[in-house]
This record gives sequence, structure tokens and C-alpha cells, in this order.
Amino acid sequence: MLENTPSRTAEIVALFRALEYVYYGEKSIIKDKYAVRFLSDRYMRIFNQLSILPDFMAFFVNAASWGLFDFITLRHAFMDQYVREFAPRMPVALLGAGYDSRAERLSDSIKHGIWEFDFPATQRRKKFYLRNDKIAGHEPHYYEVDFMKESLPQIFEHAGLEKKPTLVIWEGVSMYVTEEVVRSTLETCRDYFGPGTIVVFDYWQDILENPFRNFMIHVMPVVMDLVYGEKFTYSATQERMRELALECKAKRFTSNPGKQMMKRLKVTSRLPISSAAIAVVEF
Ligand SMILES: C[S@@+](CC[C@H](N)C(=O)[O-])C[C@H]1O[C@@H](n2cnc3c(N)ncnc32)[C@H](O)[C@@H]1O
Repeated sequence: MLENTPSRTAEIVALFRALEYVYYGEKSIIKDKYAVRFLSDRYMRIFNQLSILPDFMAFFVNAASWGLFDFITLRHAFMDQYVREFAPRMPVALLGAGYDSRAERLSDSIKHGIWEFDFPATQRRKKFYLRNDKIAGHEPHYYEVDFMKESLPQIFEHAGLEKKPTLVIWEGVSMYVTEEVVRSTLETCRDYFGPGTIVVFDYWQDILENPFRNFMIHVMPVVMDLVYGEKFTYSATQERMRELALECKAKRFTSNPGKQMMKRLKVTSRLPISSAAIAVVEF
């Protein structure tokens, strides 16, 4: 991550969400009408070129991104479901919020506040683009951080988060940290927020049986580094992630690869990359 520059990957995932809405319209699984606002000239040009293509081209956009397009949009919709289910009874903390617009889109469900944490450069850019918006429910509590440099309990405390069960969404970030940071994030959420807390995050899977998938698993991080300067530094097998969650005293752990997410969201005809999954850790 380039900490003084707004995150490019946050913009790319916003581009995917904006395109998903254009291609699927009323059948969109996210309906993120805000995503398009965060696109800089470069990504707006790509959006304009891709959005005029016929809807069936979503298939080719997904194929060209090796299934990332479908994974990223499914993961967002999957996490939206957790916000809809739990935000009516607990606060929501978005670690590495990027251009997430849940505070606006899901304001009806958010009854105990939403906290957004990110590097200053990304968060300030986001706030600038939303400066004229009046949010229907709770205004998000914005908090500028560097998770690699500051202690998470202090971050939570300074941000005014209470010590009570919280839904923590950590989307698109774990692959840029280390196992130690994943472990300490889980332990901190457990110790700070206590029983009843749920942490939902996606992770890059590093060993699968299929040789083609293994190839993708190793090539994608190199591409991300070369093209965007944002290097993948962490991956785990499903078994290792389960072990880690249990070592952190999780009461329940599930790992949800693309197929599992599609089942839960009741969608068919999407082809997400199989080398990433979502972990749901319940304390
Ligand atoms: C791939 S983006 C995902 C953004 C958002 N969660 C989404 O899915 O739309 C990763 C986000 O994590 C933030 N991030 C990564 N490392 C961070 C760190 N050490 N401290 C604070 N934010 C960080 C980036 O600025 C970026 O907004």
C-alpha cells in the first residue's frame, strides 16, 4: 500500500461495483450507485468504455479479470448481508473502508453507528467526494489510521468505539498485511468488543490441488504488485485460517469460497475466482 496516495485498489473495486450495477441493473446484487463518484479520470475512462458494452459483456470483463470481478462484487454483497442482519443490533466497524458506501446504502439497517478506518489519503479523498451528501441515518465516524503502525485497541478507543459486541468488516485488506497482523486483529476484536462480536474478512488462499488454480494464486499477487504497486503479503489455506481462528478462541468459524457465497446470495451464473474466500469468525 502506498500510504500517501489514495488507494488504487480501493478505486478498482469501486470501479467493479459501478460496472456491476450498470450490467445487472435491477438484478445487481449491490446496487452501488455511489461507487462511480470515486473514480478518477483514468478509471472513469475505463468505466465509460466498459459500461457502454452490452450486458452480456460482464462475462468477458470477469474472464479478463480472472474471476476477480465476480469475486469482488459477490464478497461485497455477502458482507452487505451481515450488515443487514447485525447492524440493527450492534455497531459496525469497517477496517480499511476505502470507497465503501454502506453508510449510505444500508443506512436503514445501521442503528448503532458505523466507524470507517483508512489511511488519511484515501479517507480524505472519499470525504471530499461525499461532502455534499446528507446521509439518511447515522453519519459515519471517520478515523484516519495506519494499521501497521498503531495499536488497534488504541485506535478503537480513540475512535470512540464502545466495548460491546460489534460487527467488524475487514474487506480487501488481509492480503496486504502479515499473519501476525491477522492474528492480532482477531485477538483485539475478541478482547476489546467481547463475546458476540463477529469479524468478516476475505483472504487469499495459497494452496489448492488444481495446478491451474495454483498458477493463478501465484501470478495474481505479482500482477497486483507490478500494475498497482500494492503487494500481496499474506495468504492461507482454509485449514490454516480455521486453525488461526480457533487459536484466537473463535466460537465459530466458516470459510466461504465463491460457490458458497453464491449459494447464500441465491445467485447463479457468476464465475468468481476460486483462490479467495471469506472468513466469518464469531467470538
Ligand atoms: C482493496 S481496498 C478495499 C476497500 C474497501 N474495503 C472495499 O472493499 O471497497 C483496501 C483498503 O485498505 C486500506 N488499507 C490498507 N492497508 C492499510 C493500513 N495499513 N492502514 C490503513 N488502511 C489500510 C487502503 O487504503 C484501502 O482503502
